[in-house]
Amino acid sequence: MSDPLPLRFETLAPLRRQVDFWRSAGERVVLVPTMGALHRGHLALVEEARRIGRRVVVSIFVNPTQFGPNEDLARYPRTLEADLALLAQAHADAAWVPGVETMYPRGFATRIEVEGPSEGLCGAFRPGHFSGVATVVTKLLNQARPDVALFGEKDFQQLRVIQRAVRDLDLPFEIRGVPTVREPDGLALSSRNRYLTSSERESAPRLHAVLMDIADGLQGGEAVSVLVTRGRAALEAAGFSPVQYLQVCDAASLEPLEWLDRPARVLAAAYLGTTRLIDNVPAHPA
Ligand code: PAJ
Repeated sequence: MSDPLPLRFETLAPLRRQVDFWRSAGERVVLVPTMGALHRGHLALVEEARRIGRRVVVSIFVNPTQFGPNEDLARYPRTLEADLALLAQAHADAAWVPGVETMYPRGFATRIEVEGPSEGLCGAFRPGHFSGVATVVTKLLNQARPDVALFGEKDFQQLRVIQRAVRDLDLPFEIRGVPTVREPDGLALSSRNRYLTSSERESAPRLHAVLMDIADGLQGGEAVSVLVTRGRAALEAAGFSPVQYLQVCDAASLEPLEWLDRPARVLAAAYLGTTRLIDNVPAHPA
């Protein structure tokens, strides 16, 4: 027998009634926000949610306000029926699937700007992106009112932006990160990997390999500047163009570092053809 589909909510009042019911029964509710086109990376978040809570709500909303005018909103994959089938297999309890008019009714006028962690890295290349993310995630949290919400370390800057917004605004939700799920060759799973041609797909794992080389070099005492110059050249030789950034940052504040003198993150964004890939790995001082 196939697993039952998750409860599907498209309007706010029934979602809230359901979550209130669960919470009043003492059940811990975990929210996993997504934009759909679900893959094993998203499903790892759902699995973790099931480990830490009794009820799992997955939101599916392709948020227009986090895409720039020249980005891939129109071609972003939309696979709702397949997503719901995957969520059934993963034993999610509810899918929150608001329409754009539900999320942003006419006259919507509020935006959340998170300074600090939104600046630099992806923020330097995607103006308005993290404001769109912070605004929609704040709404999703207030809509579903979970005990905990999970986010992937794959989007490390996004995780830090959301943690800062939740702290600064005293939002009563716990935010946790989940490690990146990768293909066997190291490529981080992403809804955008499907855009890669077969030869780009062959080059793509170099991104993770270069990040790992930098983390190893840092742990061996080499300077950030030397490692980053070498890493950038390696990415360009593998066909990445442009390499938007390749940086070593404080793992908490995301401020750039010169040396590995505290817990750090090595982060990169680069294009392979028309596809923008991002990835990051940790580096820990000895
Ligand atoms: P989306 O790209 O669909 O990702 C949803 C969640 O899955 C994010 O927390 C992301 O970090 C996580 N994720 C994606 N690929 C992963 C992987 N390979 N391993 C582990 N986790 C992975 O990120 C967004 O949507 C949106 O910005 C959102 C937060 C939903 C706001 O619109």
